[in-house]
Amino acid sequence: MKTNKSLMAERIKHIPQGPFNVHPIFVAKAKEAIITDIEGKEYIDFAGGIGVNNVGHCNDEVLKAVQDQIQKYIHTCFHVVMYEPYVELAKRLNEITPGNFPKKTMFVNSGAEAVENAIKIARHATGRPATIAFEDAFHGRTLLALSLTSKMKPYKFGFAPYAPEIYRMPYAYCYRCAFGLEYPSCEIHCAYFLREFFHTHISSEQVAALIVEPIQGEGGFIAPPKEYFKILKKICEDNGIVFIADEIQTGYGRTAKMFAMEHYEVEPDIVIMAKSIAAGLPLGAVTGKTDLMDHPQVGGLGGTYGGNPVACRAALAVLEQFTKQNLLSRAEKIGKKVLEEFKEIQAHFSVVGDVRGLGAMVGMELVVDRKTKEPATALTKQLVSRCREKGLLMISAGTHSNIIRPLMPLVITDEQLDRGLSIIEESLGELSTH
Ligand SMILES: Cc1ncc(COP(=O)(O)O)c(C=O)c1O
Repeated sequence: MKTNKSLMAERIKHIPQGPFNVHPIFVAKAKEAIITDIEGKEYIDFAGGIGVNNVGHCNDEVLKAVQDQIQKYIHTCFHVVMYEPYVELAKRLNEITPGNFPKKTMFVNSGAEAVENAIKIARHATGRPATIAFEDAFHGRTLLALSLTSKMKPYKFGFAPYAPEIYRMPYAYCYRCAFGLEYPSCEIHCAYFLREFFHTHISSEQVAALIVEPIQGEGGFIAPPKEYFKILKKICEDNGIVFIADEIQTGYGRTAKMFAMEHYEVEPDIVIMAKSIAAGLPLGAVTGKTDLMDHPQVGGLGGTYGGNPVACRAALAVLEQFTKQNLLSRAEKIGKKVLEEFKEIQAHFSVVGDVRGLGAMVGMELVVDRKTKEPATALTKQLVSRCREKGLLMISAGTHSNIIRPLMPLVITDEQLDRGLSIIEESLGELSTH
C-alpha cells in the first residue's frame, strides 16, 4: 500500500521542486471541510485549496451539475461551437459584480490568465502602455502576472527580465506603514500619494490600468482603511486610468460580501475572479464595463479551454449554493469567531503582532518582537507544521511568510471551526515562550 512517505519519494523523483508543497501528505478524499489522506488520517481544512473550496469539497450540488454536464459534452471550444453555460454564467456575473452599468464577461482558465487579459483589455482601450501595481501584491505566476507580483523570493527570483512598464506603489499596510504614519491621522496619505507618483514614477497619461487586490491575500490579509479605494478610484477616473479589482482571492464571499470592493463602496471598471468561482474546476473570469470589454478586436481575446462548459456549470451551481446556504452570513459568523479567537490569542502571546481582516478573511501576523516588528518567519513555519500534526491544515502568507491566513470552506461546522482554532492556540503555546 502506498504511504505519504512512499508517494513523496516518487513525487521528488518525477516532479521538479519548483511547484511547491506546504504539507507532505497526499489526499485520498475530501468532503466539505475535511480532507482524509491516503493513510486514513483526517484533517480539518483551513486552507481550502488556497481559497478555492468556499462551498466545501465535493459539494453535492456542484457534483450533480458536473456529472450532468459531462454526460452531454465536455469541450467544443467556445470559439468553435458555443454553449449556453458560458453565456448564462457571463450574464450572472454581469449582474452580481459591483456597478450598475452595462458589463460583459469573458472566461479563462486561471487567476493569472484573468490578470493578463484584464491588462490587455485596459491597454487596448486606453492605447497606453503602463500598469500601476502595489508592494506585497500577488497576481500570479505567468510572466505578466509575475511582473505585477511583488514578492521576490521565491516568486520572481531568477525569472527576469520581467514585463516592462510596471510601476509599484506602497499599499495601505497600516501595521507597517511605508510612510511611517498612523490611521486615521495619516488622512490616507498612501492613497493620495498616487497623484505624487504621477510626477515621480510614471506620467498619468501613460498609465492604462491600476490593478489592486481589495484585501491582499498572499501579501498577508492586509485590509486597507475604508476610505482608501474611493480615493484611488477617483484619481484613476480623473486621469482616464482603468481601475482593475483583483478579487481572485477575496471574491465570492470570503469577506462576507460577494466581492470585497462592496465593503469599500467602489465600482471597479474591471473585476477579475478565479479560485472559488467554480469550486475547484479551473476557471477565471474578467468582467468589465462594456465599452472596455468590447474594445479588443474579434479574435484578440480567448483560448482553447477558456470557459470550459463543465467549469461553467460548476460555477453556476456555486452561485446557487451561496443563496441556498446563505454563505455570506455564514462567512460573517466565521469571521467574527476567528477575529475574536485571534484577538484572544494576541492577548496571551506577544508574538502575535497584528490581527486584522474583513469577514472570514482574518489574518494573524507573527513577529519576533512587537517593537521591532521583525517577522517571525521560522515560528510561522513551525506553527503550520505543528498544526498539521494535530490535524489542522493551514497555510501562511506575507512577503516574509509570517502571517497565518485561514481560508476554510465556508461550510465548515461550528465544531470543526472551534477545534481548528483551538489547535492553533495549543500549537502556539507549545512553540512560543511569550
Ligand atoms: C489575488 C490573486 N490574484 C491572482 C492569483 C493567481 O491565480 P492563479 O493561481 O489561479 O493563477 C492569485 C492566486 O493566489 C491571487 O490570490
